[in-house]
Amino acid sequence: MSAPEPITSYLAQRAEEINAWLDRLVPSETIPPQQLHCAMRYSLFAGGKRLRPALVLATGEAFGASTESLMPAACAIEMIHTYSLIHDDLPAMDNDDLRRGRPTCHKKFGEATAILAGDALLTHAFRVLSDDRGMKIDPARQVRVIREIATAADTVDALIGGQMADIEGEGKPTDAATLEYIHRSKTGAMIRASVVTGAIIAGASDDSVEEVRAYGSAIGLAFQIADDILDVTSTSEQLGKTAGKDMAALKATYPAIHGLESSHARARELVEEAVRIAARLGVASGVLEEIARFIIARRS
Ligand code: IPE
Ligand code: IPE
Ligand code: MG
Ligand code: MG
Ligand code: MG
Repeated sequence: MSAPEPITSYLAQRAEEINAWLDRLVPSETIPPQQLHCAMRYSLFAGGKRLRPALVLATGEAFGASTESLMPAACAIEMIHTYSLIHDDLPAMDNDDLRRGRPTCHKKFGEATAILAGDALLTHAFRVLSDDRGMKIDPARQVRVIREIATAADTVDALIGGQMADIEGEGKPTDAATLEYIHRSKTGAMIRASVVTGAIIAGASDDSVEEVRAYGSAIGLAFQIADDILDVTSTSEQLGKTAGKDMAALKATYPAIHGLESSHARARELVEEAVRIAARLGVASGVLEEIARFIIARRS
């Protein structure tokens, strides 16, 4: 689809489809341990933007994959993302009370359940990814998808490594290179893996997969710069999470280190770069270009 409709309605439509699949893929609240499944679903269905799974779908479909073959991986990535948010909010991490417009998982269910709900979403994601009735692609390609996602959720230049550096960077002077490393790792890696996953499932050529990776890299960093900017410029009501927390916690952020104006400029540059890469992919790339622009235009 080449974005004839505004990108927000495109994303809302994709979110509905993704939510229906997630509902089927995650154990119901009636299955023991009920408290754990309630907590997983509470955080998962609290109304996230579903940007990462939408990126899997948009990229994969652009390269000719069916929605059905993309959905298991799209949902698995959203499970991993939601686990990362539950753990990110824990008292020992960012200590947040509000997430996706609701009390955080640990506020609602207690810390032990929140830790386990995060663990369970991460584990369940890999069960879904490895299901042989899931994406219905060649097993070697499926293993490649699993490796790509595991690598992004791992420690080296990846989600957990970035979260560690983010915590270590609190209250310390941080240089620009370390800041970029934190952002590319904690947030960029999973966004990049989302688009790469779509391309691999679709059977895109190795060259195309690498071009898609470059697109994902640019929007991934832009996404976290925008998140840092929104923390300063938006309200808790708008964000569904507590605004102004980064400065209070002395976090290493783009506005703190580069100022708001340069942060906006850098995010814009990255989005322009992403749009240029998308336009060169040789497939209908309208949606990918619009998603890149949405990443810095969003208000939450
Ligand atoms: C928030 O991600 C955490 C970051 C990586 C910055 P999103 O802004 O995508 O959060 P949801 O999924 O829409 O709640
Ligand atoms: C978190 O970054 C990135 C994750 C991997 C969860 P932040 O700590 O800035 O995310 P928010 O602002 O709490 O959503
Ligand atoms: Mg954090
Ligand atoms: Mg946080
Ligand atoms: Mg933030």
